[in-house]
Amino acid sequence: MQVQSKSFLKLWYDIYVSQYIQDRKEQVYMIDNLSAATVLHNGVKMPWLGLGVWRVSEGNEVVHSVTSAIRAGYKSIDTAAIYGNEEGVGKGIREGGVPREELFITSKVWNTNQGYESTLAAFEESRTKLGLEYLDLYLIHWPVAAQGKYKDTWRALEKLYKDGLVRAIGVSNFKVHHLQDLLADCEIAPMVDQVEYHPLLTQKELHSFCKDNKIQIEAWSPLMQGNLDQPVLNELSAKYKKSPAQIVIRWDLQNGVVTIPKSVTESRIIENANVFDFELSAEDMEKISGMNQDKRFGPDPDEFN
Ligand SMILES: NC(=O)c1ccc[n+]([C@@H]2O[C@H](COP(=O)([O-])OP(=O)(O)OC[C@H]3O[C@@H](n4cnc5c(N)ncnc54)[C@H](OP(=O)(O)O)[C@@H]3O)[C@@H](O)[C@H]2O)c1
Repeated sequence: MQVQSKSFLKLWYDIYVSQYIQDRKEQVYMIDNLSAATVLHNGVKMPWLGLGVWRVSEGNEVVHSVTSAIRAGYKSIDTAAIYGNEEGVGKGIREGGVPREELFITSKVWNTNQGYESTLAAFEESRTKLGLEYLDLYLIHWPVAAQGKYKDTWRALEKLYKDGLVRAIGVSNFKVHHLQDLLADCEIAPMVDQVEYHPLLTQKELHSFCKDNKIQIEAWSPLMQGNLDQPVLNELSAKYKKSPAQIVIRWDLQNGVVTIPKSVTESRIIENANVFDFELSAEDMEKISGMNQDKRFGPDPDEFN
């Protein structure tokens, strides 16, 4: 009897535990350069690491950020209509010298354009400003639930997707209850939820809900908008000989979270991409997660209407 239960345990270990460990290892090791991508639930590949361009001025500043990133090997750029810099992003893409199909470009419909027809019009405006035939990802920027329009907006995104104008569609700043409401009433489930996510806001419940529903989590303000002077990060920075920014970006990747740090500084754009030559131990991953204070640098989506 004892022998039987021992061999059962071993079988269970071989099938489940060792497979889990293998999968985790593969996930971590496969994220080994800026082209490494997660596979969204519709099969589209989305790079794990990209450049964010919020609060980057239209014109030379954004063109320079985007071209610096593309020349450093970045494949993914995250903008939004409200950032007011889509024309510069488009110019940066053209000047970056990398074929369009190798890049992954995201934009978002702003709150005042929610609704079916107005979203279709907003998409067309973004696409024209960017100078692109198609976008890779288009997101609803905020649920603004008090407006009661995000389901109509979603139907417009579904149409854009079916028409082949966007390769993947998703949401941003959706909490679990917004996702549940949308999932109950949509034809195509969102592929991505882009939310505020960093060591001080680890979003455990939302992350696990998204995993269960095959929605890829993407971190905005991954660098806590520059508030990187934190004891745990400084300690790990000394230990791994990596900057606090690199420690946080690596923590995102090992957590299976797509991340889009913003910088207008070329040396930092390069630094933020230099995260593929080290691995945080499980213990140090936990240490960083233990920094959580449910602290937001941006608004709470339930209160942003
Ligand atoms: N969906 C949404 O509602 C939403 C909301 C906010 C942001 N986002 C997206 O997420 C992106 C990233 O978030 P974020 O712009 O709020 O902030 P972030 O990436 O968390 O932090 C950017 C700040 O960190 C600094 N920084 C960058 N690299 C650094 C490094 N290696 N060492 C030290 N400091 C560094 C930048 O300075 P410099 O630029 O001066 O180098 C900037 O001040 C945005 O750009 C946007 O694309 C989305």
